Amino acid sequence: MSKLPVIAIDGPAASGKGTIARRVAAAFGFAHLDTGTLYRAVALAVLRKGGDPSNPADADAAVRALDLSLLEDPALRAQTTSVAASKVAAIQSVRDELLAFQRGFAAHPPGGRGAVLDGRDIGTVICPNADAKLFVTATPEVRAHRRFLEHKANGTLITEAEVLADIRSRDARDSGREAAPLKQATDAHLLDTTHLDIEAATERALSIVRAALRT
Ligand code: CDP
Repeated sequence: MSKLPVIAIDGPAASGKGTIARRVAAAFGFAHLDTGTLYRAVALAVLRKGGDPSNPADADAAVRALDLSLLEDPALRAQTTSVAASKVAAIQSVRDELLAFQRGFAAHPPGGRGAVLDGRDIGTVICPNADAKLFVTATPEVRAHRRFLEHKANGTLITEAEVLADIRSRDARDSGREAAPLKQATDAHLLDTTHLDIEAATERALSIVRAALRT
């Protein structure tokens, strides 16, 4: 059987990459993996054990015993989990442990038609030979506003200034770390969604992916 199509979508927090990835997957009938949930699940397991997400021993123990039912846990989206996720994600051994699962998903996606993975290092490390790569971004202020509205809709009490501070500190940690830092792959298409609503951003993403899969 020839290799199935793989779409890599990377970008910083609240850039729109998750929604775009879900919609691209639905449009092509491909399976979607939000790789951020893996780091969030590891972080949540560390926090629930009273561990320190920056401590490699605590994070390694959590990733090796990872309970996949945590991927459905509503606490995955909490602000404390986001911060802890970007701490465990900076630990190389945690990333190494999650690599095979992500590559396995890309090579053998549920449904058997193709895969869309979104995260920080899909185009650079996990699937460097992806058929289409997108790097989705927007200014920190616009991303903070979007994430603030999501929190508000979920009834989370947090100010927009707090969300912006979190986004800036996670951007710095994700881009500045040595292990698979967040960066645009040289062959990725840049999709700046600062002035695009999600419909327009999805349309652009779909036309990039359509063109890439035709060639
Ligand atoms: O949804 P949001 O963009 O806020 O975060 P996420 O995609 O769920 O990722 C949470 C954290 O996991 C990020 O801040 C990264 O530190 C880390 N992550 C990563 O390092 N590599 C990935 N492929 C995905 C997420």
